[in-house]
Order: sequence, then C-alpha cells, then structure tokens
Amino acid sequence: MSNDTLRLISARRSHRAYESTPINEEQLNAILQAAVESPSAVNRQPWHFTVVRNQGLLDEMNKAVWEQMMKRDTEKRSPRFADSKFHVFYHAPTVIFISGMPDNPYTPIDGGIAVENIALAAESLGLGSVILGMPRDAFAGEKADAFRQALRFPQGWDFVIAIAVGVPADTKDAHIVKEDRISFVD
Ligand SMILES: Cc1cc2nc3c(=O)[nH]c(=O)nc-3n(C[C@H](O)[C@H](O)[C@H](O)COP(=O)(O)O)c2cc1C
Repeated sequence: MSNDTLRLISARRSHRAYESTPINEEQLNAILQAAVESPSAVNRQPWHFTVVRNQGLLDEMNKAVWEQMMKRDTEKRSPRFADSKFHVFYHAPTVIFISGMPDNPYTPIDGGIAVENIALAAESLGLGSVILGMPRDAFAGEKADAFRQALRFPQGWDFVIAIAVGVPADTKDAHIVKEDRISFVD
C-alpha cells in the first residue's frame, strides 16, 4: 500500500551536508506550523522552538561539544569526532533547537514527536534535515547557561533535541531496518 504520506516517510533521510542557501521565510513558517501542530501529552505543548541562523553561535556550540567529547575516552566518543573537520551542525543554514519543560515525564517524547513533524515537513518542501542529539553536550560545559540564554530557552527549561534544515548537498541510502522489531499478538 502507498500514498503521499507513506512515500514521504520512506523518502526522508538524515542529510549531513548542506548548501549555504538559507531556507526562505515561507518554508520556515510552514515547518514551524507543523512543529506547533504536533500532539503532546495532555496538550501541554512542553516545548519551545528556537530558530538559529547565526553561524557564529553554531560554531561556538560546535566547539563546546568538541570540548566535552574530547574529555571522554576515545572508545566512548562518537566515531564522527575522528575527523577534525566534523561539525556537529554540518554547516546547515538553519538549526531549530527544541527546549523542554522540566518535571514533565513526556517532555522528551513530545519533543521527539515535534522534531519528526519538522523533519517530515522539511522533506515535503523538498528540503533536507538531520535530527541532532549531540548538541546536548554544549549544555554540560562551562558555557551551558550562556547558550541557554543565547537560545532564549524559557527559564528552567533545557535542551531536548535539535534539527538542522536546509537544501541537502548529499545523498544517502535508506537505513537498514533491524529485524525482529515487530511482534504480533493476535
Ligand atoms: C534522537 C536522535 C538523535 C540523533 N542525533 C544525531 C546527531 O547528533 N548527529 C547525526 O549526525 N545524526 C543524528 N541522528 C540521526 C540518526 O543517526 C539517523 O536518524 C539514523 O542513522 C537513521 O538514518 P536516517 O535518518 O537517514 O533514516 C539522530 C537521530 C535521532 C532520532
């Protein structure tokens, strides 16, 4: 069985190289609309979306993530950090950060649903995206509070997830689906 929605879900990939061309306001507004229309537990909407196009700030955060990662033993680092040119945000022109309400058990789930809505909305507009958990490390270092402020996280809220969005400059195969992840109980 197939339809436009199922084809869109199948076509989405994580893109890790981007053109410098920024996404336009119309595209951004459509993506943000898809984000705020996400379902959430008890309709709490425990999220805040911060759109970052300031490449200097993203470079600073990339540096902070690198610093945290280098404190770990080599085997505990993401293998991506073996490449000195690796950039946590892949030089994407736009990164959307989702910060979340504390003391709410559904915050990470609701943030995850919203980030996938963003990914699918971007895909539907012919854009690419990659969901980013790695920036979390930037909120553990000495500049953590400065970043929370720079990103306008509401008071007491913290990083949940981020997503880079832009015109992709790479191609990627679909991920290999692991077996035995579905059971039926009839
Ligand atoms: C919660 C979450 C965090 C992720 N964090 C990163 C990340 O920090 N950097 C990255 O390059 N990809 C990240 N990814 C992308 C995954 O690596 C990717 O979704 C997975 O390999 C499957 O590939 P696909 O998205 O192309 O289907 C993340 C994905 C999820 C869902």
